[in-house]
Amino acid sequence: MSKIKPSKGAPYARILGVGGYRPTRVVPNEVILETIDSSDEWIRSRSGIVTRHWASDEETVAMMSIEASGKAIADAGITPEQIGAVIVSTVSHFKQTPAVATEIAHRIGAGKPAAFDISAGCAGFGYGLTLAKGMIVEGSAEHVLVIGVERLSDLTDLEDRATAFLFGDGAGAVVVGPSQEPAIGPTVWGSEGDKSETIKQTVSWNELHIGDVSTLPLDSKGEIKFPAITQEGQSVFRWAVYEMAKVAQQALDAAGISPEDLDVFIPHQANMRIIDSMVKTLKLPEHVTVARDIESTGNTSAASIPLAMERLLATGQAKSGDTALVIGFGAGLVYAATVVTLP
Ligand SMILES: CC(C)(COP(=O)(O)OP(=O)(O)OC[C@H]1O[C@@H](n2cnc3c(N)ncnc32)[C@H](O)[C@@H]1OP(=O)(O)O)[C@@H](O)C(=O)NCCC(=O)NCCS
Repeated sequence: MSKIKPSKGAPYARILGVGGYRPTRVVPNEVILETIDSSDEWIRSRSGIVTRHWASDEETVAMMSIEASGKAIADAGITPEQIGAVIVSTVSHFKQTPAVATEIAHRIGAGKPAAFDISAGCAGFGYGLTLAKGMIVEGSAEHVLVIGVERLSDLTDLEDRATAFLFGDGAGAVVVGPSQEPAIGPTVWGSEGDKSETIKQTVSWNELHIGDVSTLPLDSKGEIKFPAITQEGQSVFRWAVYEMAKVAQQALDAAGISPEDLDVFIPHQANMRIIDSMVKTLKLPEHVTVARDIESTGNTSAASIPLAMERLLATGQAKSGDTALVIGFGAGLVYAATVVTLP
């Protein structure tokens, strides 16, 4: 028989507070048209994007995260010292080690929490949320700070017609804490590694620094391109439209929720047409508020769901206690969907 005492956590977990940070610089489609052959009309109609935010040198991954976290902690009504773990989901923090989570934990005054980064692309927020819930119920932390943050402008090839207009920068954060009733449903998540080539970096850091220079992609000035994110737009689009609606439905079923019970739908902000298609396939009733933050934020990967959540609450389109379906999907390919009670 085991001599180990069982760990004591909270019966359930819930999102207690949310915060967001959007870089000061707003970039309209006209700026994108300086480097690709396209039109404002094409970008709007094919993606739904009108403007996005690009970070300045000062708006680092850490700085944006700290701003978003401060708001989330205040919104949750706790102090930084009560944070037992910090999880940062990002693909655009360029220092391999140490994890940026440790710097953020220190700079927000959280003391000595567990702190680590995860890489799960545009599903990163859902992955972090699921880990946080597990930690709270298992008892290894009472409050967990989950941050999704990206500076995708650093990984965007402005000469690539398929991606130049898509990406934006920003940070979103939530505080997850104990609850007496279920407020984060079972997560439906997974990966399809056979499709890992559909969204990827053009070259690895290794190839850039020690590889054969003659094989590296060059820009229009003949200079070696910085590794950027490329994608097979149509394959990803089809996968998102057909497969992710099924995953979203599975998350509703797992939570025992019907579309009529939902108040809010917050899908990853990848493309307005993907969002519209999911709403149709899921047969969401008229009363369900749908996040359409992509119009002014672009695709901010791991930051997109908490940023959209924060805006819906801040603008009164959603309210505390609402039942929301969240689903993230992207590079990997990976996905994560769950039903949550809004903070
Ligand atoms: C990127 C995306 C908006 C492109 O839209 P699309 O309708 O698939 O575009 P296509 O690549 O099929 O190209 C359609 C036409 O537009 C043209 N086109 C492509 N990019 C263009 C651009 N930036 N401006 C103007 N025309 C463009 C193509 O040349 C093609 O022209 P043709 O019909 O004369 O051959 C869309 O595929 C998408 O959103 N994919 C998923 C993105 C995503 O979610 N990624 C991240 C997941 S986390």
